[in-house]
Amino acid sequence: MSYQTILTTLENGIFTITIHRPDILNALNRTVMQEIDAAMDEVYSNAAIKAVLFTGSGEKSFVAGADIAEFVNLTREEGMLLAQRGHDIFNKIEQCPKPVVAAVNGFALGGGCELAMSCHFRLASSNARFGQPEVNLGLIPGYGGTQRLVQLIGKGKAMELLMSAAMIDAQEALRLGLVNYVTTSEELIPQTKQLLQTILSKGPHAVAKVIQSVNAYFREGEDGFAAEVQYFGACFGTDEMKEGVTAFLEKRKPSF
Ligand code: COA
Repeated sequence: MSYQTILTTLENGIFTITIHRPDILNALNRTVMQEIDAAMDEVYSNAAIKAVLFTGSGEKSFVAGADIAEFVNLTREEGMLLAQRGHDIFNKIEQCPKPVVAAVNGFALGGGCELAMSCHFRLASSNARFGQPEVNLGLIPGYGGTQRLVQLIGKGKAMELLMSAAMIDAQEALRLGLVNYVTTSEELIPQTKQLLQTILSKGPHAVAKVIQSVNAYFREGEDGFAAEVQYFGACFGTDEMKEGVTAFLEKRKPSF
């Protein structure tokens, strides 16, 4: 599929989605959001795609937020619709049964931080900056930021960042657990791909069940432990599980 505001490549099973509006620091307008949605549909339906890597164009920015120009003159109802649409798309990322990782290569502000947080985990280059600056605009995050930031770094620090609009650097994001690794700019994409290749060498059905089971912890009204029992059971009898167990007993590497 061809897109206007994102670039996509598929290499060794890894589908890289690069947000591409470099003149405006890759801000998310309606077109970008619609194209992320379509690209995620492609991820769900194309068996050749095994994992997803989100990043931003250029060296300065991952995504500097929602496109502020689109906020002017929105009514309360239109604001709610915008947020709901953002939630639907970012939930599609979070619930994806294939691993989705953000390689944060610069500013991840507002909707950019929210996009990164909807991915399963994050790596950052040392020049990355994170923040939810919406209160500077008289707004709050609308693409899940008030919820996922709390889940990732805890209530107290999330409250502080959301209320102060403070920007934190990559090392602070690492300390808080918002990102898993900090690398040089040059190493960011290779290291992210290497980590994804390690994951892709495991059983894809089991990896999907890990994602579903961990996500169950955060799903309203769901008992995560009960969900784990179901997902654990669902692994038995699969060809993948037979191969994994047999390979271990035969003292060889499994081939999934
Ligand atoms: N929406 C719309 N335009 C944006 C944008 C956004 N979220 N973020 C950056 N831009 C535009 C700037 O207006 C500027 O456009 P111009 O060249 O036509 O003037 C261009 O991108 C480059 O940004 P600039 O501000 O000149 O770069 P900088 O290095 O001085 O500052 C930031 C970088 C990220 C600190 C600054 O752009 C910023 O604060 N952006 C808004 C972040 C934000 O509030 N995001 C949450 C939105 S809800």
